[in-house]
Amino acid sequence: MSKKIFSGVQPTGNLHLGNYLGAIKNFVELNNKIDNECVFCVVDLHAITTKQEPKELKKNIRETAATFIASGIDPKKSIIFNQSMVSAHAECAWILSCVSRIGWLNRMTQFKEKAGKDKEKASIGLYSYPVLMAADILLYDATHVPVGDDQKQHLELCRDIAQKFNNDFNAPEFLRTPEPLIQKEFSRIMSLKDAQKKMSKSDPSDLSRINLTDDKDQIANKIKKAKTDPLPMPSESSILSKRPEAENLLSIYSSVTNQSLEKSINEFNGKNFSEFKEKLSEIIIEKIEPISKEIKRLLKDERYLDSILLEGSKKADRIASKKIIEIKELVGF
Ligand code: AMP
Ligand code: TRP
Repeated sequence: MSKKIFSGVQPTGNLHLGNYLGAIKNFVELNNKIDNECVFCVVDLHAITTKQEPKELKKNIRETAATFIASGIDPKKSIIFNQSMVSAHAECAWILSCVSRIGWLNRMTQFKEKAGKDKEKASIGLYSYPVLMAADILLYDATHVPVGDDQKQHLELCRDIAQKFNNDFNAPEFLRTPEPLIQKEFSRIMSLKDAQKKMSKSDPSDLSRINLTDDKDQIANKIKKAKTDPLPMPSESSILSKRPEAENLLSIYSSVTNQSLEKSINEFNGKNFSEFKEKLSEIIIEKIEPISKEIKRLLKDERYLDSILLEGSKKADRIASKKIIEIKELVGF
């Protein structure tokens, strides 16, 4: 059965190995299936829920598009565009925000994490962020949404919003409830410096993540400095929960090589971390270096990137503006 895929990535800089293994790698596989209709969005409206420097934002929008293409998404087959170019997203988000309940949004853990201690100072946009995300998905009648583990709660909310809209406006099945596509394993890559924290764009330490624009030497250096424990490499998966650094590095190894965690454990059972790290570095470089080089090449051609985003926006607009007309009709406008 053909699938309608929608996903988004924020253009907030420092796209990293976690974004790649948790989401973008999956986008590429979905792009490659002939029957799938895929839409991949650079969610710039989401990016401004925290303060962005305008010049940096512009650069990061192009860099996110370049990362999609460099990773293997074919702009001739899939739609690549940036959210702010299609006005239906903001319009739909407003309508859906009148359907969504404050109680639902109050449960969102990402807002709690991002807003930190001083919630009063967070933007209203950061709070209603998941409603905009629901609008993104529902405008395209997406059947499947590939994301990392941290977006699961937002997708559940999206389903609730769709159902409430359909109920409130007596339009059964009108907004399609999407299925999340979250990889069973390795959907949460942790920081190289602290395996209790997610690998993140905003971590002040660059050593905590492998950026998709890192070169060979930077990757090798970061893996060398990655935190480990003093024991030899583990011999079975049951003890991994007590050895989070080993678990994270082995997960990265397994995800990059497309092999099971068990197989990776057997491969390095009892060896030193240094030997494992050498191999890990090698396979990450093999995967990431070509992507990094291609991103840098594409970034030199701003006109090409802008033309991809413009073409993508036109195609996206054709789909989204049709849906928003139907939505407005149901609401009574
Ligand atoms: P963001 O950078 O927040 O826009 O995230 C883009 C995509 O990458 C989303 O699908 C996230 O779930 C995914 N992602 C972000 N960080 C990680 C991570 N550390 N591990 C796995 N997936 C991640
Ligand atoms: N909130 C997602 C993230 O931070 C990005 C996003 C925005 C998204 N709109 C989306 C993901 C729609 C999937 C579908 O990772």
